[in-house]
Amino acid sequence: MSELCPSILSADFNRLGEQIHLLENEGIKILHIDVMDGDFVPSISFGMPVIRSIRKESGLFFDVHLMVREPIRYIKEFASCGADSITIHLEACSSVAETLQAIHETGCEAGISIKPATPADEVRPYIRDVSMVLVMTVEPGFGGQAYIDACTEKIRRVREIEKEEGADIHVQVDGGINDDTVETVIKAGADYLVAGSSVFKGDLKENACHLRKLMADAESAL
Ligand code: DX5
Ligand code: ZN
Repeated sequence: MSELCPSILSADFNRLGEQIHLLENEGIKILHIDVMDGDFVPSISFGMPVIRSIRKESGLFFDVHLMVREPIRYIKEFASCGADSITIHLEACSSVAETLQAIHETGCEAGISIKPATPADEVRPYIRDVSMVLVMTVEPGFGGQAYIDACTEKIRRVREIEKEEGADIHVQVDGGINDDTVETVIKAGADYLVAGSSVFKGDLKENACHLRKLMADAESAL
């Protein structure tokens, strides 16, 4: 079954706890948490203190997306402040294998992510070592961008590689997910859909409910 993973990058940080509770009450299971370092991506978001603080109040699955250069330096800290899964970028690591190993040692689930220009086949060597592959559908760094159509084919390709390698993963998509793109990504094989602005802009409850309905409809038509 597909899951909607709201990205708190687009939340109202003045009401963060309240907004997370609302999502939890709506039946959301996975919270997507974007950490940006101002180096691997041009922007800076937030880090450990925010995650530690919301962990005290929420039982949601914390899916931490690290847009950070050499994330191996911070894996233990993100795990201890409450991450349930940690996703790193292939393009950001001098050793992807060592970084995944560091994630596994913490007991967190591990994910790998690729930017729009990175070919899907680059995930092949790691696909059996991760529980999730994140196909970025915008250039990482900012919320509110338009979905890049050329990424749809990469979602399909990751599912093919999963089969060829006998792996069992979630395929997550992140960037520009809204009313117009839900069906496309579900048809292509995505099951974890990250959404920032389309959840947090306007009525949170209504948006989450509406997107989940679109996802269920697209899934039942498969
Ligand atoms: C972008 C982040 C996304 C972002 C998506 O670099 O990884 O998670 O919040 O925002 P929307 O859904 O607005 O495109
Ligand atoms: Zn993200």
